[in-house]
Amino acid sequence: MAKPAHQFVCSECGTAYPKWAGKCEVCEGWNTLEESVMPKALPGGMKPKVKAGKIEFFGLAGVNPPPPRVPTTIVEFDRVLGGGLVPASVVLVGGDPGIGKSTLLLQAGAALGHAGKRVLYISGEESIDQIRLRAARLGLTKAPMDLAAATQLGDILASFAQFPDASLVVIDSIQTMWTDGVESAPGSVSQVRAAAFELIRAAKTQGFALMLVGHVTKEGSLAGPRVLEHMVDVVLHFEGDRGHQFRILRGVKNRFGATDEIGVFEMTGGGLAEVANPSALFLAERRGNVSGSAVFAGLEGSRPVLVEIQVLLAPNPGGSPRRSVIGWDSGRLSMLLAVLETRCGLKLAMNDVYLNVAGGLRVSEPAADLAVAAALISAASDVPTDPQMVFFGEIGLSGELRQVAQAELRLKEAAKLGFAQAACPKRVAGGAAKIAVPSSLKLLEIGHLTDLVAIVTRGLKPGVKPGSGGG
Ligand code: TYD
Ligand code: MG
Repeated sequence: MAKPAHQFVCSECGTAYPKWAGKCEVCEGWNTLEESVMPKALPGGMKPKVKAGKIEFFGLAGVNPPPPRVPTTIVEFDRVLGGGLVPASVVLVGGDPGIGKSTLLLQAGAALGHAGKRVLYISGEESIDQIRLRAARLGLTKAPMDLAAATQLGDILASFAQFPDASLVVIDSIQTMWTDGVESAPGSVSQVRAAAFELIRAAKTQGFALMLVGHVTKEGSLAGPRVLEHMVDVVLHFEGDRGHQFRILRGVKNRFGATDEIGVFEMTGGGLAEVANPSALFLAERRGNVSGSAVFAGLEGSRPVLVEIQVLLAPNPGGSPRRSVIGWDSGRLSMLLAVLETRCGLKLAMNDVYLNVAGGLRVSEPAADLAVAAALISAASDVPTDPQMVFFGEIGLSGELRQVAQAELRLKEAAKLGFAQAACPKRVAGGAAKIAVPSSLKLLEIGHLTDLVAIVTRGLKPGVKPGSGGG
């Protein structure tokens, strides 16, 4: 019998070599080549002995029922999941240490338990006593749930057989799990990958939903170079600032629903409380009559969210000015500063600029441009924006305003929260469909940034140019 052909494959980049070498030429990794046996090549014309079956092909049309859902009854959680947990699906919940992942999953598990589902909660980080203490703090001691403290994957997989009726299995966290089939240390990429693979296979064969907690590395990616994100059905990020009480659960990937939805929670002394009206919460601490603040009528997924944009300018006559941004894109701020300087004559170059989205929310929409510009103009001219006004609109490089999606939803939310005016892009004649404007709201349609300067600095006496005073 012919000897099987060998090759050496780089474990980092996958390049194959006929001979072993200490260094991979492609990714330049050292000691990354591993031996592997190639399938035997068949001499020309020869047929394989095993008869291959045929695969079936289908048309695109057909009736497929939507996946069944099991609501967790935590509305904010279900919204992000797309309507509830899908049986046999795998959800990865990532976030910084201490942000509240264990709390969230304990609460979600308890809610499902109360709804009559069997929930297994396996912690590799905390002892049973610690979990019980947390449950007591959350008022969940009566919730039906099966707890275990374990890290050895073989034991965990073998124990699933006792619970054929399990609806949800929580693994807190995947980085603490280890399998003795892999030699590297727990938490290493190969351990995390192998453990996740085994758990996912168990979830798919036994039909329970699996939730994996994943810690985030300093660079902000889920530890285990994103391998986990490819393997699971749903990736959720639990975000927030530990100094703030707001927590945002954000869908990053979802094979069963939209990915731009958010769930908003508040971390209280008794656990995570759902926030049904985030706008009211984000604006709760707003003080009117302060320059450098503007309210942005934003959108997170299908949901309008009003947030306050705050800008502080500090004079910095020498050196290179600082631009410090929290909750928004710093590149976009630089662009807006350049547009304001070049197209509107605002003098901002000699100032440090600090921009903050109040409440710890991260805004990624370009629609925030107009609110940021309003806050900048307000700070530069030391004139507060109208506290009854919201702003939204994208700004182009020539200073022109551009339409943004879902204007109607944003206006409705502003009216609901008692705002009286909305500054937004001018509607183009014959453009997108007409929008219904709530009767309590006055629309200020803006074509160019210079109009915004005029609106924000309405209180300025003639002769005083924005940017020439204040700081
Ligand atoms: P935790 O769920 O342990 O975070 P993670 O699993 O993401 O590491 O939450 C830890 C923090 O939450 C901790 O600093 C204390 C705080 N916390 C509350 O404020 N209220 C509560 O009811 C609970 C249980 C925790
Ligand atoms: Mg935890």
